[in-house]
Amino acid sequence: MKALVLSGGTGTRLRPLTHTSAKQLVPVANKPVLFYGLESIAAAGITEVGVVTGDTEDEVRATVGDGSEFGIRVTYLRQEQPLGLAHAVLTAREWLGDEDFVMFLGDNFLIDGITSVVEEFSASRPDAHILLTKVANPSAFGVAEVAADGTVVRLEEKPEAPRSDLAVVGIYLFTSAVHEAIDRITPSARGELEITDAIQWLIDRDFTVRSTLMEGYWKDTGTVEDLLEVNRIVLERLRSRTDGRVDEASELVGRVSVGRNTEIRNSRIIGPVVIGDGARIHGSTIGPFTSVADDCAIIDSGIEYSIVLEDSRIEGVRGVEASLIGRSVRVTGAPRTPRTHRLVLGDHSTARISA
Ligand code: G1P
Repeated sequence: MKALVLSGGTGTRLRPLTHTSAKQLVPVANKPVLFYGLESIAAAGITEVGVVTGDTEDEVRATVGDGSEFGIRVTYLRQEQPLGLAHAVLTAREWLGDEDFVMFLGDNFLIDGITSVVEEFSASRPDAHILLTKVANPSAFGVAEVAADGTVVRLEEKPEAPRSDLAVVGIYLFTSAVHEAIDRITPSARGELEITDAIQWLIDRDFTVRSTLMEGYWKDTGTVEDLLEVNRIVLERLRSRTDGRVDEASELVGRVSVGRNTEIRNSRIIGPVVIGDGARIHGSTIGPFTSVADDCAIIDSGIEYSIVLEDSRIEGVRGVEASLIGRSVRVTGAPRTPRTHRLVLGDHSTARISA
């Protein structure tokens, strides 16, 4: 069995970060969200992994490498344009051959991994097998109607009037039957070859499509709010460790992980919090539910429920919360000029300033 990991797409809802970076590489607890998927593939015993990339291929290659770090072998497959999930499978057609495969959307996060569903699929070998989860807003997803025995009877992509609350999770198991389906479908209204339509094609021709209802936590990390929530979930399982230096005047409360060559002075860190390597935290309050990446400086500031990427500096600003701060960003306080704000924000940035 092979795995096909989708790591292309444009990530419009995570701009401006995705102007310069792949959405699958945005870190959760200081680790790219994509890595959690690759780890769960490796844990399921799958070693041959095709990574489908788009415009951000160079960055994905530089970050994932040959996969040996995960115990897998990665082959990069370039999708020239983001023309849909089924189009990504088409791109990988030759590499996949006739083998069974699990398709994993690189921005999907699930806490339970895929080992049990891969085992279930391998044992029963339906033509396709999907994962479902109950959601409050099914219209935002593929939606399934399922018979009592778990057989999928109908799928609809982002329906206005959903027939169930069962969303299609971005992890699919396929036999080679899916290739014929993909050859037969046509692009949807949004101009994409939808994997949902390919699966519906199989259902219509009496191929067996089964499903597993997932109980564990799952999130498609498309927005800042989603990422902050996944970050919180992962941090809740954090183990404490202190590799850096923490002075006497500082206090670490609860589960806090401090990286190498990081210096914490006169600060209060309220876990769960992860701080990367080479960071400086002086005179600040951090946490809970906050990830600070390598080489950041947080000076005389307060930040909670947030993600800060590498090499950023926050100085003299209290009350930062629910924020996603990119790489090499400078956020500084301006105490003598109340009521004015100086902003240099990239295209598609969002700033909420209490006024
Ligand atoms: C895709 C699928 C959708 C599925 C979702 C899960 O949507 O088309 O059926 O529910 O992934 O993340 P997209 O993220 O491409 O809008």
